[in-house]
Amino acid sequence: MCGIIGYFGKEEALPILVNGLEALEYRGYDSAGVAVFLEGEVKVKKSVGKVEILKKSLKNNFCSGSHLGIGHTRWATHGIPNKSNAHPHSDCQGRIFVVHNGIIENYKELKSYLQKQGHNFKSETDTEVVPHLIENFLNSGKDFDIALFDTLRMIKGAYALVIIDKENPKILYAARLSSPLVIGVGKNENFLASDPSALIGKTKNVVYLNDGEIAKISQNDINIINLKKKKTPYEIVHLGWDLEQAQKGDFPHFMLKEIFEGPEVVRAAFRGRIKSKENLVKLGGLEKVADQLKEVKRLLILACGTSYYAGLVGEYLFEEISRLPTETHFASEFRYRDEPFDKNTAVIAISQSGETADTLAAIQKAKKHGLMTLGIVNTVGSTVARETDAGVYNHAGPEIGVASTKAFLSQLTVLIMMAVYLSKNKNSSKKLLEELEKIPKKIEIILAQSAKLEKLAEKYKNYKNFLFLGRRYNYPVALEGALKLKEISYIHAEGYGAGEMKHGPIAMITENFPTMAIIPQNSVSEKMISNLEEIKARKGPIFAITTEENKEISSLTKDIFYIPKTIEPLEPLLTIVPLQLFAYYIGTKKGFDVDKPRNLAKSVTVE
Ligand code: AGP
Ligand code: GLU
Repeated sequence: MCGIIGYFGKEEALPILVNGLEALEYRGYDSAGVAVFLEGEVKVKKSVGKVEILKKSLKNNFCSGSHLGIGHTRWATHGIPNKSNAHPHSDCQGRIFVVHNGIIENYKELKSYLQKQGHNFKSETDTEVVPHLIENFLNSGKDFDIALFDTLRMIKGAYALVIIDKENPKILYAARLSSPLVIGVGKNENFLASDPSALIGKTKNVVYLNDGEIAKISQNDINIINLKKKKTPYEIVHLGWDLEQAQKGDFPHFMLKEIFEGPEVVRAAFRGRIKSKENLVKLGGLEKVADQLKEVKRLLILACGTSYYAGLVGEYLFEEISRLPTETHFASEFRYRDEPFDKNTAVIAISQSGETADTLAAIQKAKKHGLMTLGIVNTVGSTVARETDAGVYNHAGPEIGVASTKAFLSQLTVLIMMAVYLSKNKNSSKKLLEELEKIPKKIEIILAQSAKLEKLAEKYKNYKNFLFLGRRYNYPVALEGALKLKEISYIHAEGYGAGEMKHGPIAMITENFPTMAIIPQNSVSEKMISNLEEIKARKGPIFAITTEENKEISSLTKDIFYIPKTIEPLEPLLTIVPLQLFAYYIGTKKGFDVDKPRNLAKSVTVE
């Protein structure tokens, strides 16, 4: 999902491409590459790791004098980060050069079709089907424009594409579907980029490509057509942004941007993986261990921090949907326990970064005991991904804010799909999958009411302590919500199972000790109401996250935030969102750096 840059104009192309990729580094990536046209040839350079490494490989006047080129920073989804999987990718003859942001869901069938047509692939990526498909249509006698149209019609998924055709070096082609792409409009020069931050200092006039549009860009001209081959008018927008602002788009912080990406990351996690009508979950990353998984009798989920709390939700999911005994442990504890294992136990390690030291150590211990290890990882090719026997990628794109928000939603989505995948009784999951597909819209309803949370945050921002209460699927949400508040506002917050109130915590309740109650109308909301009555009786302030169906809550508090109703296993996907926003607004109102909270690292690679 990461970075694209394209240039055609009066200046040297290469420095513009490299500077553009550097401006896009904030989006997170694992490898980079460029392709430039010069004297009838297209030269390509790729490297693994930082753009700096690519820059070093471009020394000795690599392609000086070129005025047309494309560049890419890759956030791998298919194929580990290595040089051959880095973009640009080309066709057999070396005529077509493509950079791509997004995922081509049907790349497997396209790739086998093209291989039968005699095409040789050099990478493991989904992207590489694009140049070969175009070439295949060219070989059948179509001209480039039609070949590109027909290619775009065949691919399913998300793409921002920029393409060089060596035989037509007067045009840069671009196409967009679900992944962002903007055209930068200059004087005797035009640009393409994933977002305007790569154009700062070059031009402030941009054209946002819309889904289903194809742009043909020359040095002085821009033509945009849609997939029905109709010429579409476009509007040039003048940007007033500075660089940092451009990287956050309309958001003041990466954390808020990533909370608002929640609906999209849930879609990205299940895109191409569920067919609710047939009650089917397809997890390609587990195919190679599918038979062994049938023998699994027990699951161990190992993780840290927010990933651990996602794992706790997973414990309920696997026990109630897959009917598999499941235990979730802090990886930092698991690695030092001396517990009996049996060979029918499988470990699921959850990690956004894929580099958390405690989680890696726990995986090593599990492997030493001969257990199958699976990963739920956001960073393709990361150590957790490589150390585990199989796994499922989140496809959430890079998470820049130190506090994990969108990754948590993505992890829950993957766990829900895995629970259905491992369930012996698939029929009961049809309703669950259909409801899962409705979740992104329900999160959007919550996000649309963020101003209400900002107002309530104003009221609660000066308390020194907080208790977060939930039951069943919302017990881990209480823990995660408390962690968010701690991390972002440095307020002491404790998450508790509501049933535990009378076993101690209620001693703390006074009018200065508020409780955040996660109490959607469900099988345990009546029990939660009794807990809250005990709190009210001791004058404890209550802030309730609930659903319209819960009519009793208004007798206990006026501070209520309503969320859409869903089925209990999916409730955490909704109940966590107001808690993420609550923590964000309190942290910003207290003037803290919510993207880089004190003492915290995005990836804890030390013990
Ligand atoms: C969550 O907001 C924190 N940043 C932290 O607890 C994090 O979840 C934990 O360090 C685990 O990281 P991982 O998912 O990359 O393994
Ligand atoms: N899916 C493509 C790949 O894995 C593109 C990933 C990206 O958006 O960078 O190479």
